[in-house]
Amino acid sequence: MKYYLSLVFSITFLQIAAQSELSLSPRWKFSLGDDPLWAEYGYNDTDWMSIAVDRIWEQQGYESYDGFAWYRLRFILPSSIKNAGTLRDSLLIYLGKINNFDQTYLNGHLIGANGFEATDALREDMSFIKAPTNYWDRKRCYKLPLNSPLIRWDAENVLAVRVYDEGGQGGMYTGDQSLRLTCLSDYLLVDFGREAFVFKEKNLVKNVFLKNVSSAYTLFGKFDLQVSHKNTGKDALEKELMFFLKPGEEQRIEVILPQQDHSLIVKYDVEIQRENFKLKFIEETPYILTPPVPDAPRIVGPSITGVRPGRPFLYTIPVTGKRPMKYWVERLPEGLLLDPNTGIISGKVDKAGEYKVVFHAFNESGHHSREFIIRVGDQICLTPPMGWNSWNCWGLSVDEEKVKASADMFVQKGLRDHGWTYINIDDGWEIHRDKDPKRDAEGNILTNEKFPDMKRLGDYIHSLGLKFGIYSSPGPLTCGQYTGSYGFELNDAKSFGRWGVDYLKYDWCFYDGLAKDTSHAERKKPYVVMRQALDQLERDIVYSLCQYGMSKVWRWGAEVGGNLWRTTGDITDTWESLREIGFSQVENQPYAKPGHWNDPDMLVVGYVGWGPHLHPSHLTPDEQYTHISLWCLLSAPLLIGCDLQSLGVFTLNLLTNDEVLALDQDPLGYQARQALVEGDIQVWVKELADGSQAFGIFNLGESTSHFTLSFEKIGLKSNGHLRDLWRQLAIGTYENWREFTIPAHGVVLMKVD
Ligand code: GAL
Repeated sequence: MKYYLSLVFSITFLQIAAQSELSLSPRWKFSLGDDPLWAEYGYNDTDWMSIAVDRIWEQQGYESYDGFAWYRLRFILPSSIKNAGTLRDSLLIYLGKINNFDQTYLNGHLIGANGFEATDALREDMSFIKAPTNYWDRKRCYKLPLNSPLIRWDAENVLAVRVYDEGGQGGMYTGDQSLRLTCLSDYLLVDFGREAFVFKEKNLVKNVFLKNVSSAYTLFGKFDLQVSHKNTGKDALEKELMFFLKPGEEQRIEVILPQQDHSLIVKYDVEIQRENFKLKFIEETPYILTPPVPDAPRIVGPSITGVRPGRPFLYTIPVTGKRPMKYWVERLPEGLLLDPNTGIISGKVDKAGEYKVVFHAFNESGHHSREFIIRVGDQICLTPPMGWNSWNCWGLSVDEEKVKASADMFVQKGLRDHGWTYINIDDGWEIHRDKDPKRDAEGNILTNEKFPDMKRLGDYIHSLGLKFGIYSSPGPLTCGQYTGSYGFELNDAKSFGRWGVDYLKYDWCFYDGLAKDTSHAERKKPYVVMRQALDQLERDIVYSLCQYGMSKVWRWGAEVGGNLWRTTGDITDTWESLREIGFSQVENQPYAKPGHWNDPDMLVVGYVGWGPHLHPSHLTPDEQYTHISLWCLLSAPLLIGCDLQSLGVFTLNLLTNDEVLALDQDPLGYQARQALVEGDIQVWVKELADGSQAFGIFNLGESTSHFTLSFEKIGLKSNGHLRDLWRQLAIGTYENWREFTIPAHGVVLMKVD
């Protein structure tokens, strides 16, 4: 079946089922520790503490607690809710997301674990904590047949949730706990999220799937879509389609639409005959702002790099334009060698100093030259690192092939030409805690079967002019429950040195049990130990601390030798997560500077999923523009978190706008300040090395904003020139104020000089 619509539309997420449901209390009873009696119906929990289930326990007085804890809730289940559904077969219990693992009991009986039915394996006491660590992002829903003897109708019931968290944040945290009966629409899978729109010539194309997942019911109904312009709210189109699906059947709807220069809002209502409610989905269409690069060479990327004397140097001159390209460097310091066909500079410089060189690039369409500084001294990481990390896409399912493919994609898709450099393996390369041996007789860490030869992998990455990153944790185990570095820090640093590692992300997991208390000294300790080990190597290694911002790490991260430090918990691909993390980077602002960066976590654009199954980012296109703009204003490390093999035109476009990336790589290293908060509007201002300024106006609200910016009021120069960085377009001179139109959750990113 084909739909040819006259206007663009894309992505989906919001599913609202308008069914009668019973919301559960936002406050439950809570106890740290573990006792099988706490599952029991009759257990007396009146003395337990009360806890909110819409936020993690760390935010409620249990800072740094890892281990077991129980949540209990008593509630009356009225039999009247049975009348709400068209089907009378099952009861659904929604518990929201839980960080990290759960076993859930109703009236003393196990009904499920980690969002799965209670199978024998999950019944086994401890097996539930061996599941993939990304279960923190999984919505828990448990299903019971309506005639189950476990359910006590019109009487008190007890839900008891046993939670285990082994590191980082813990507990129930989304606050959307409820109960309801199944309906026919629970068997209709409306899958908009499997594919993102792809750009084909002047069109956008996407498949949407309707699947009947029941084995007994036939589903038929109406699929309705309404399209409107996001910025004006004006209607664009309306269409209706009937569907009929036998048990197990799937129907594909292909949508082909012409591209636009803004998002359209697409609303889908799916109505199943015989049921008096609709499934509602909303998505926004992608649109491209970055203009195509010219054929003639253009040297981009940072204007400076730092290396220590006598340490291996590797830098690929980032140049856009038509290939083949030839390179030449004027005044290259002694010890360095340029490959004139690839632009890769390697070698070592023994003498400290500031070497001012000139890069030249030539192709059949022209020539470009640009000054560049190689600073040989005691500081590296002079601009925020730009690269790829395996975590947000592959999670623990990462392997050598996937890492090599990412390096290849950096070259083939041209990311290297825009300055993208690091290829970083996150957790999952070490030996799992259930397997032995974990180290050799000398204490050297072993890799698992997915990484047969780290040195070979490092060499491969370097041969492409890219740099190689790895991950470890100071505890005996990593967050993914693989071998950590505790007690073997020097061995591990040496292994990293042998493998040619250029970047180390060092976590915190499983160190909680080792730290004596939560003092600054104890929080710093493991990072100092690893720093000292790294200092024994004849290699520069960018040192990235990953302890989620505990004890205001930005105040002491540089002191323990960190080049960057995570300032928050893990990011996910939702607006809530992006907003919470991105717009909270205020207090740490003065601490960012060349060599030392605040890290608000990795990028969540493109196909992500924490492995092995990926989905297009749940952020709308405007939210993705906000994400990249804000991270660049913040001088944040830019680590792409998506699968590069499925990188589409829209994502590539977001990641290769040289004027936007130049903000991030500006040598002044100034982290944008939050200059104005007015209702839903925030303006962030960044000072730049050449004396110009950049600013982003962000609209955190739910509708298009027409905002008048008064330049002087927030410390921006008045009477200058304005440049739209995403469109790479001069938009003329301005005086003291100007009105801007900013889409909901979107941004206007400008430079003034
Ligand atoms: C988390 C960290 C993630 C990822 C993961 C690996 O603590 O924040 O970014 O590295 O560990 O298990």
